[in-house]
Amino acid sequence: MSGLVGYIGRREAAEIMVDALKKLEYRGYDSAGVAVITGKDISCRKEIGIIRRLKDSLERNPITGTIGIGHTRWATHGKVSVENAHPQIAGNIAIVHNGIVDNYIELKEELLKEGVVFQSETDSEVIAHLINRELGNLEEAVAKALKKIQGVYALIVLSADDPEKLIAVAYGTRMVIGLGGGEYFVGSDTTAVAPYTKDVIFISDGERAVISREGVDIRNISGQRVTKKIERIGWNPVMMEKGGYRHYFIKEVCEQPRVIIDTLHNHIHGGEVDFAGLSLSDKDLAGITKIVLTGGGTSLNAAIVGKYLIEGIAGIPAEVESISELRFSPIKKLGGQLMVAISQSGETIDAVSCLRHGNAYGAKTIAITNTKYSTLEKEAGGNINISAGPEISVAPSKSFTGSIVSLYLLAIYLGIKRGTLSAEKSAEMIKNVAALPHKIEEAIDLEERMEQLSRIFYRNKGFLYIGRGINYPIALEGALKMKKLSYLYADGYIGGEIKHGPIALVDEDTPVVVLVPNDKYYRHTLADAEEIAARGGTVIAFATEGDTEIAKRFEHIIYLPQSDYYLNPILNSIPLQFLAYFVGLRRGCMVDLPRNLAKSVTVE
Ligand code: F6R
Repeated sequence: MSGLVGYIGRREAAEIMVDALKKLEYRGYDSAGVAVITGKDISCRKEIGIIRRLKDSLERNPITGTIGIGHTRWATHGKVSVENAHPQIAGNIAIVHNGIVDNYIELKEELLKEGVVFQSETDSEVIAHLINRELGNLEEAVAKALKKIQGVYALIVLSADDPEKLIAVAYGTRMVIGLGGGEYFVGSDTTAVAPYTKDVIFISDGERAVISREGVDIRNISGQRVTKKIERIGWNPVMMEKGGYRHYFIKEVCEQPRVIIDTLHNHIHGGEVDFAGLSLSDKDLAGITKIVLTGGGTSLNAAIVGKYLIEGIAGIPAEVESISELRFSPIKKLGGQLMVAISQSGETIDAVSCLRHGNAYGAKTIAITNTKYSTLEKEAGGNINISAGPEISVAPSKSFTGSIVSLYLLAIYLGIKRGTLSAEKSAEMIKNVAALPHKIEEAIDLEERMEQLSRIFYRNKGFLYIGRGINYPIALEGALKMKKLSYLYADGYIGGEIKHGPIALVDEDTPVVVLVPNDKYYRHTLADAEEIAARGGTVIAFATEGDTEIAKRFEHIIYLPQSDYYLNPILNSIPLQFLAYFVGLRRGCMVDLPRNLAKSVTVE
């Protein structure tokens, strides 16, 4: 899940690439590097740590040249070191690589026997040597080398012997090529090229693009020329700036009312949910026997919320499975099932594999993603776009709540289409969701209160979170966010489960966030909170405005606006995001770029 960039044109390649890498930093940030054609040579610079360090190094000691490749790494094979950073060099070849070479050990043994000396511990270096071994003609050398490689990958190749071109390859993932006037930009994601051009083409499925100043020549895996459609990307570069906020995370938290408004605008027409783009016929809709929801990390938590929404609103049995498990499912016949794959990036490799599994075994498939033209969107039977705009912070916020709203609308749509939800109920639910942006604004007003709470608790050893029903996945998400942003131990549980074990974790040093809205679980969750307090635990209760009873019981109470049971998880998410952010900030963590993580996990 590293990020790759390439540039060929008239401008200084290193400067453009460092800026483009910065836009891809969410894909990995343990080290970064660039290689640029300088006369008859390739000059390479690599630094450990975030892109800023590479930028500083290049400002102190610039590399000039107008053709280059760059990389920001999330280590898979080989520790974080300058040697293992990319570009990887073999002779006059430099490559940047994302993915895993599954058979690299046997390829490396073969190369070692031939006397090749390796400089790094990476699987990627094998690719550089394989290409170098086959030189002569660069295109042919790349094609021959790739025939030997097993795995899913994206790659950009530079050669000092053939210095007027770049070769980009994407297999099982995709890459984007931005078309400027007489200059070309390559990137792992549209975010890398969007500041320079809106016109892009995507390559995938083993396609190879030879990019020179004269143009782009694309061949498929069998070597035949292919003509690609030029797409126009919609994201405005300004949307990718911090806009006066200290961090992307907090900016994105505050954008949530706008995200909900845009989602509603896109999918509610004439007072009804409109998902015509899902390509599900009435027969398909009537034939659904079960819905399987899948996602990873935060998207997995959204999928669990989705299960409560779909079962509760549409009355269809629903199951949730992690993307890393579902594709290994022994059940091969998925006919009659609808698979809903949720992925902010649309590029998470396990999500893509699940979707392919669903497509191959007869399920109808829907992708809920925030990224237009992503692999998931392209391969799904139907799509729901989250409309959150670019989410730069590695830890998601607005795409999480945006995906929940999409699932809420999907549940209404399915309920209406299958006759399990009345028109009156649907109209009431749409009215409720239309009122949500205003309520989110009220939740955003809790920022200062959450900052104060963070001051009290940031030195504690960890946090627990509990919720029941649809708020159980919100407890999981609160804990996941706290782990990512503050590196503190944090875990989420079903309220009713704590007495079966987790209550042993309760002590004075571990505050427990209890999600206790005035829903059907209220009495039970209140009892959970009392049991925690009785054992010396500190309760931070997230309650509903007007709940006077709870005020008598606990010291720390966060009041959220009254809302529909099904929308309450969105409101609870906002102060949980603030809490994780402020605790992380106080603990000196890199809140936008948490250690060891990457936003887009494109390796298995
Ligand atoms: C990023 C993060 C993860 C993501 C997960 C799924 O480190 O927060 O929990 O939510 O990797 O990513 P998407 O939604 O892009 O498939």
